[in-house]
Amino acid sequence: MGTTAELKLEGKPYELPIIVGSHNEKAVDIRKLRGDTGYVTLDSGYENTGACQSKITYIDGDNGILKYRGIPIEVLAEKSDFVETSYLLIYGKLPTKVELSNFSRELTYHSLIHEDMLRFYDGYPPSAHPMAILSSMVCSLSAYYPDSLDPNDPKQVDNLIPRVMSKIRTIAAYSYKKSIGQPVMYPVNRLDYCSNFLHMMFAVPSEQYEIDPEVVKALNLLLILHADHEQNCSTSTVRIVGSSDANLFASIAAGILALWGPKHGGANQAVMEMLEEIQRNGGDTDAAIRAAKDKNSGFRLSGFGHRVYKNFDPRAKVIKVACDKVLAKMGVNDPLLDIAKRLEEAALNDPYFVERKLYPNVDFYSGILYRAMGIPNEMFTVMFALGRLPGWISHWKELKESNERIGRPRQIYTGPAHAEYVPIEKR
Ligand code: SDX
Repeated sequence: MGTTAELKLEGKPYELPIIVGSHNEKAVDIRKLRGDTGYVTLDSGYENTGACQSKITYIDGDNGILKYRGIPIEVLAEKSDFVETSYLLIYGKLPTKVELSNFSRELTYHSLIHEDMLRFYDGYPPSAHPMAILSSMVCSLSAYYPDSLDPNDPKQVDNLIPRVMSKIRTIAAYSYKKSIGQPVMYPVNRLDYCSNFLHMMFAVPSEQYEIDPEVVKALNLLLILHADHEQNCSTSTVRIVGSSDANLFASIAAGILALWGPKHGGANQAVMEMLEEIQRNGGDTDAAIRAAKDKNSGFRLSGFGHRVYKNFDPRAKVIKVACDKVLAKMGVNDPLLDIAKRLEEAALNDPYFVERKLYPNVDFYSGILYRAMGIPNEMFTVMFALGRLPGWISHWKELKESNERIGRPRQIYTGPAHAEYVPIEKR
């Protein structure tokens, strides 16, 4: 295989370098294309465009493979926990015992938010979506760390990483408490990352809250499986915002907003609303399949399909197995799980879905587990953000360390070549 590609434009040949990745993925390097030829490429949705070279996560969409820093997610799901996996993604290696204990301690001792920030919650209506609160509170954190915002000072960045990792969990739990009119529960230093989150979510001042180890395990599993996914919409957003030298809080807040969309992280909430609707309609999954196939319905099967996975989403497989195990251990019998399984079965046997290679994605079953933990639908995308945070941080850090230039795509202009200004009385 040659290390260049030949492109002929207006009869003139051009040699373009070929770049080959760790698993033999190939790219035509067009970084000099416009300078050499005057041409740009067009790829709306970036389906064929590599935005960067990255060492963090590898996805093989045809074979359902997902690896964080080379380690398959099935192995991490079985052997690791969310804090260790976060360290792996952010710092590029599994931590030693000392490194893990230092990182955990940092997360523990930076879990409080400035007391003044509690007043921000009073300004939101109880019906405010927690993703709106999460993004604005995370961006507002930058007001409290004016001396740590320089994205090009590694010391300041290292100072912020455990703070944003820890405080986003507190902000999320507080937004839930505020939405149900309960007093916020402050973090407790003796608890680990996930147990502390559950404590802040479900404990009340008037009684002792017993943390269920099964729920802690299931939460670690879900957060690990959501932790990174290479150049998805929200991670690409974090990278392009970070490329302008915006600080870490601002870049993460932008990622949260991109994740909110129902085509992306908002799908997990949409899946549960879809399953509840099917349940209200007597469990008629065929009607949902028919609507999803009808282009005029505007309805899509939430939790189905993926830009990259064209065989199966390995995360969906792990979560589906966990649903059966965890719900059985918790003694939960959720009819929505049976509806989800019947819906999957029906879709996977329908030519429309098979021809388009539409399979359950990470969002299809995750809500069943969140719901079994007592987490409400509106908080599902917040949970996705909590999981994806180490991924966003790792890509932002990689971008800063590789001194990438500001992201600024080109376009093909198709508007009027020239137009005159017409005075309003003549329009
Ligand atoms: C996530 O990128 C990532 O890595 C994302 C993510 C991550 O970890 O960061 O994996 C997380 O966002 C998962 C996806 C969650 N979204 C949903 O579940 C929403 C429902 N899915 C779709 O909207 C859609 O499948 C996307 C957005 C996920 C992918 O969209 P694409 O790649 O742009 O595919 P497309 O819209 O071009 O669809 C191709 C065809 C179309 O039909 P035709 O025009 O060819 O006839 O498939 C159809 C679509 O209409 N189609 C669906 C469908 N998804 C695609 N039809 C019915 N139901 C669906 N869910």
